[in-house]
Amino acid sequence: MQTLPLHQYFPDASRLVFGTMNLGGGWNTQPLCKADISQTQALLETCLELGINVIDLADIYTYGKSETAIGKVFAAKKSLRQQFILQSKVGIRLTPDVPINHYDLSGKWVTEAIYGSLKRLGVDSLDVLFLHRPDPLMQVENLAQVLNNLHTQDTFDCLAVSNMHAGQMAYIQSHVDMPIVCNQLELSLGHTGFVEEGITTNMTDNAALGFPRGTLEYCMQQGIQLQAWGAIAQGRFANTEAEDINIKNTALLVKKLAEEYDCSTSAIVLSWLMMHPANIQPVIGTTVSHRIVEANQANQISLTRLQWYELLQARRGQGVP
Ligand SMILES: NC(=O)c1ccc[n+]([C@@H]2O[C@H](COP(=O)([O-])OP(=O)(O)OC[C@H]3O[C@@H](n4cnc5c(N)ncnc54)[C@H](OP(=O)(O)O)[C@@H]3O)[C@@H](O)[C@H]2O)c1
Repeated sequence: MQTLPLHQYFPDASRLVFGTMNLGGGWNTQPLCKADISQTQALLETCLELGINVIDLADIYTYGKSETAIGKVFAAKKSLRQQFILQSKVGIRLTPDVPINHYDLSGKWVTEAIYGSLKRLGVDSLDVLFLHRPDPLMQVENLAQVLNNLHTQDTFDCLAVSNMHAGQMAYIQSHVDMPIVCNQLELSLGHTGFVEEGITTNMTDNAALGFPRGTLEYCMQQGIQLQAWGAIAQGRFANTEAEDINIKNTALLVKKLAEEYDCSTSAIVLSWLMMHPANIQPVIGTTVSHRIVEANQANQISLTRLQWYELLQARRGQGVP
């Protein structure tokens, strides 16, 4: 098994992470039903069969139903909890009855949110607590004090962040008593800012793709795990009829490579991401077991350097500078 930065803390963590954003019957106010729980159970069983043992959650996913569904599955089979590394996120306030979706990294809300997650999941602690998004109104001393207390009380083992740049990570790190172990960002063949940022230094074209300069290198240098949300690019490269010519050409190349390697198109899209030396962990957000199986094939694929660049060229619609 390839060594990941996260293995410092969780030596057995799998390369792929199972994302739960759409579990629990979806983003609606319908109550959780038996079928939602059976679906969750089947997906977790597929993960275990494939050796995928990291579950990515958030307090807001399907307005809490995703965590509740996982909690019900754990309650029915007590031994299951210990077989997974559980990560969840707090810091976004999003419920059907809140007038404006907003961020909240106040100590008060973070405390309330983490205890809410623990209750829904029916567990004593999270393995990794993520700060979901940077909150411009964050008072770092207040947040740090609360995180230090919650950590001492064993409500979570490790701290992580999401959608943050290196400066934000360093700022929080300088105030908390525990290491930031992971940063989860959108990274994929569909969202290539993390690559463009590195190859367009001192150039104006492609420089505005939004990926914060130096964040990749900061994480790699500090031994911080990078996780990729949107890693399969929401399935967009499975569509060879796409209107966008660059997506269509990339999808056609992905299909050709999938035939060559005798694997799924998702596996090719993921293997492109996984070839990066940062040892990125892709988070797979699906509600159907067969897509987990297809994604897992990426562990067996090693693209050539030329194929990696061919995919990048197809995606950007031109060769590298
Ligand atoms: N930290 C953050 O801010 C953040 C933000 C977003 C997501 N996340 C995490 O990352 C996970 C994955 O994110 P994501 O859902 O944006 O990205 P993703 O894994 O790239 O895409 C998953 C979505 O694409 C669909 N899909 C996948 N392959 C497909 C195909 N071949 N054809 C048609 N549809 C296909 C899935 O539908 P099916 O269910 O039908 O497979 C699902 O709706 C989430 O579950 C969550 O855990 C984190």
